[in-house]
Amino acid sequence: MVRVSSLLGNWAESLHLSQVETACWRASGYLHDALREDDPEILRAKVPSRFRNWLPDMLHGPAVTEKLRSEGVLDDELLSAIAYHSVGHKCLNRLGRALYSADFLEPGRKFRVKWCESLRARMPGELNEVTTEIVADRISYTIKHGLELYYESVGFWNALVNSR
Ligand SMILES: [Fe+2]
Repeated sequence: MVRVSSLLGNWAESLHLSQVETACWRASGYLHDALREDDPEILRAKVPSRFRNWLPDMLHGPAVTEKLRSEGVLDDELLSAIAYHSVGHKCLNRLGRALYSADFLEPGRKFRVKWCESLRARMPGELNEVTTEIVADRISYTIKHGLELYYESVGFWNALVNSR
């Protein structure tokens, strides 16, 4: 979470975002996985019904969003970014796309290291292009392995290609 937050903070500074927005980007990195270690079946009972059919590994995002909302956080962009950081959603704009990508690209991941490095080097200037490449990769993986696609992920893909 610290690495994701620091990557997002660097990107926000490169984009010359305001101090408040930069703090929000950093906060999304710290908070998005806050409940990842909690029992998914307990989380499932706490999230709105539209998330209840999600796989166990995906429930922590919506659960963090509900907790933040119950504690008075009203920033829809931040809340959506966290809720959909594992799956994507057509509503994700700059912060949501950045969190989705930072979670995938954070330097601690030992997964396709060279490719991730090359994508990181293009951020944040090519945010939409890089996010599109990551979503394409994840959707291809899902199809290749015969897994179910989330309609939210397909909506995210369509939103990205339509914003070119
Ligand atoms: Fe996560």
